[in-house]
Amino acid sequence: MRTLRAVGELRAVLDPARRTGRTIGLVPTMGALHEGHLSLIRRARAQCDVVIVSLFVNPAQFNERSDLDRYHRQEDRDRRLAAEAGADLMFAPSPEEVYPAGFATSVEVLGLTDRLEGVARSSAHFRGVTTVVTKLLNMTLPSTVYFGQKDAQQVVVIRRLVEDLNLAVRIEVCPTVREPDGLAMSSRNAHLSPAERERALALHGALTAAREAAGGGERSADALVRVACAAMARFDVEPEYLSLVDPDTLEPVTRLDEPALLAVAAQVGSTRLIDNVTLHPPVPSSTGLPTPRQATPRKATATCSA
Ligand code: PAJ
Repeated sequence: MRTLRAVGELRAVLDPARRTGRTIGLVPTMGALHEGHLSLIRRARAQCDVVIVSLFVNPAQFNERSDLDRYHRQEDRDRRLAAEAGADLMFAPSPEEVYPAGFATSVEVLGLTDRLEGVARSSAHFRGVTTVVTKLLNMTLPSTVYFGQKDAQQVVVIRRLVEDLNLAVRIEVCPTVREPDGLAMSSRNAHLSPAERERALALHGALTAAREAAGGGERSADALVRVACAAMARFDVEPEYLSLVDPDTLEPVTRLDEPALLAVAAQVGSTRLIDNVTLHPPVPSSTGLPTPRQATPRKATATCSA
């Protein structure tokens, strides 16, 4: 598999492919590939003629220098895994190739980025993501770009970006890949000590508890969040946020009348983890009649103390 470093090289390879009508699938990553990333590459392989994986640890989206410094860089291993999963090309530019001297432009999605991860990590994080994703899309002009549901807010923000800027690309979202015990795969999991690895199950435990409560008929956001918080407390983990939100606007919802996203973030030791699940309203009772809708005033995000 060829590794390309320069935008010129990339265009020289991709332009003829595009001209001859071949479809291009882009899988943007920051490397340290795991089964989650590989599921995206496999999906792209199944759908596109040319599959390109980008590997760029984007300095602009890290708040903490220490977080950037400890990010695993293992390009040879990543290249082998990407090739095995079916990638044709790897694009691994230097920071100077992406942000040359004099670089002065950024792309920012307003509103959607000032909640959930935007609070915890500052709006600079998403500005870094949307700027680099716009650049990667412009460099490769793919037919389809692949993202993971694991980063649910990232998906919502990028959907907005693509729509608002009329970018001619289809977005394909792939389900979260988990370890056998439920922990969402993440390159950050490698930083967990054995004891923290146990406690990290708090996030999946919380989401599962809420999903079961929803399946049992619970529709109140407060009650669902309380159930999830109680599950986390059993692992001695406190959520940074744990919110039931509208899957498109990311606004808090008070009742599970439509499918909603339950999103959670928590610090486990020195590692920050995120996860989410889509909750569905309970199916109508056996009478065939839907449960009556209760008027509940909208209010701020439900929290553990609610
Ligand atoms: P990174 O964290 O490397 O993730 C690359 C892609 O893999 C993202 O779309 C992410 O949602 C997906 N992914 C990560 N873990 C996953 C899992 N367990 N299951 C399914 N998909 C998973 O996200 C980024 O990089 C960056 O922000 C990027 C988009 C590359 C821009 O720099």
